Amino acid sequence: MSNLRIATVIGARPQFVKAAPLSLEIANTSGIEEVSIHTGQHYDAKMSDIFFSDLALPKPAYNLGIGGGTHGKMTGQMLAAIEEVLLNEAPDAVLVYGDTNSTLAGGLAATKLHIPVIHVEAGLRSFNRKMPEEVNRVMVDHISTLLFCPTVTSVENLTREGITEGVHQVGDLMFDATLALSPIAEERSNLLDELTLTPKSYCTATLHRADNTESPEAIERALSYMIECANGKEVVIPVHPRTRIAAKRFGISIERPGLRAIEPLGYLDMIMLAKNASMIFTDSGGLQKEAYFHGVPCVTLRSETEWTETVSAGWNRLWSDENYLSKHDIVEYGDGRSAQKMVNVIRGWLAH
Ligand code: UD1
Repeated sequence: MSNLRIATVIGARPQFVKAAPLSLEIANTSGIEEVSIHTGQHYDAKMSDIFFSDLALPKPAYNLGIGGGTHGKMTGQMLAAIEEVLLNEAPDAVLVYGDTNSTLAGGLAATKLHIPVIHVEAGLRSFNRKMPEEVNRVMVDHISTLLFCPTVTSVENLTREGITEGVHQVGDLMFDATLALSPIAEERSNLLDELTLTPKSYCTATLHRADNTESPEAIERALSYMIECANGKEVVIPVHPRTRIAAKRFGISIERPGLRAIEPLGYLDMIMLAKNASMIFTDSGGLQKEAYFHGVPCVTLRSETEWTETVSAGWNRLWSDENYLSKHDIVEYGDGRSAQKMVNVIRGWLAH
């Protein structure tokens, strides 16, 4: 019998991280093969190439080179280009991760060709439709055949929208990645020495969401908040291209007393920066969870979060909240074997 073929669409930094454990698991499973399509949404070496080497991810079979531009243009170009690849490859299913424009384009291209869609990180909701990510994830959930949810809440969100078939709660793939890559980061990364940082003597931060970068006031508000909240500790911030571009446009300097701006980091260096920080400020979904994995308190620079269990477990708070709730473990993120669970489900389903 010939192998079942999955086409995976990736494009943005967090998707490379999630793909690492799952692509490895697929590669180690007989009977399934994967063809990987990089949309090019993230194209700088520091946003893309370094992740492939840090994560030992194989080079994608296709790189569509579609990055930048407005949401509509980017998504539309991706849709057309992915469709062409899918017509050529004729996979049995298309797998997409998370909530980016690459996720939406991959899901739409597949469903228009009647190819089943597998959505990893399904059911997450911020209930804020102004976020492009919220629109992307809602759309993709509603056209997916297999939906891999990380948490109980994400399953409940889907149930509320009438999606109950093909839903599997499998834990969090980023936890798999953190468990596998943390020891490697410890061994290989020299970042703390390079930046002359000592563990727990500094805070770290990331900032890139549209809400926090669309006006000079929004950027200033976020930067001032972190400096104040860091209470005298230096805040080290690897600056995302979106934020760098926006700050330049508004004539704002990110570097200032109390804040050290550095270039975007590869995954291994980011693990070291995050796990040794005394506190993390972020508007990224992934880093909110990684803060918990590393046992570092987090403040989310947004007025809502999809990862509500990080807040109810006392490891994260929204910046509008004064205090953390009391701490407990988050068992639903699983035991580092989410990738294995997903591949088992995919295998059973594709075999039908
Ligand atoms: C995207 C995702 C967001 C995810 C984030 C992770 C969408 C709608 N948003 O946001 O959900 O959390 O990735 O980082 O898909 N740019 C560069 N070099 C790069 C990549 C981007 O200069 O390698 C520039 C782009 O040209 C653009 C800006 O940065 O001007 C924003 O990039 P874009 O891919 O649109 O969205 P992100 O903010 O990265």
